[in-house]
Amino acid sequence: MKQQVGKAAADRVQSGTIVGLGTGSTTAYALQYIGERIAKGELKDIKGVPTSFQAEVLAKQYNIPLTTLDDIDHIDIAIDGADEVDPNKNLIKGGGAAHTREKIVDCLATQFIVVVDSTKLVEKLGSTFLLPVEVIPMAKTPVMNAIEKLGGKPTLRMGVKKAGPVITDQGNFVIDVKFDNIENPAELEKTLNNIPGVLENGLFVGVADVILVGEIIDGQPKVREI
Ligand code: 5RP
Repeated sequence: MKQQVGKAAADRVQSGTIVGLGTGSTTAYALQYIGERIAKGELKDIKGVPTSFQAEVLAKQYNIPLTTLDDIDHIDIAIDGADEVDPNKNLIKGGGAAHTREKIVDCLATQFIVVVDSTKLVEKLGSTFLLPVEVIPMAKTPVMNAIEKLGGKPTLRMGVKKAGPVITDQGNFVIDVKFDNIENPAELEKTLNNIPGVLENGLFVGVADVILVGEIIDGQPKVREI
């Protein structure tokens, strides 16, 4: 499913465009197919803007030329994954702790395409996935206290095969928050970002233009557009 949806997104990239390169295992397939189209000569004059160290490494591996936000004045298309997608195309992102850079790049794109498998579709945000909040390390305790006052249950994300907390590409921590109900994602996004010490949270409200959903129908992987 992830492979098919990544390919479907890569097929929408046109020559001569600037492309936001998202983070995660689904987007990794899109990057691979963009690289294959470049190698075949089908796609020319592309510039990629990576949303993470992982995206940068993959782009280099697949020979996708890179640029930075200092050197461009627009992004034509961004392709990125998500951890949850609601019926209004609002998202929770940050499973890979990259949501701060992802939000910067995805919001700048004229068209933002989200690539997910069908397990990511939810009726209400927060029902299956914790909400990631990137926080400056010295502020972790007051931020966690403030989040509890908002009704959330915060946990500091810990590293795997690394002692201590996960460190983001910006050198910060990630607090994962369980909210029983996210009734108003737009309001919660602003409220969280208003807590001193919070850099960015994983709610992406009104940013996605197209959702490409990979699903298995009659044993075959298919891609549906929302
Ligand atoms: C990283 C993200 C990813 O896009 C999100 O976690 C989805 O990843 P995957 O495609 O591996 O399920 O937001 O911060």
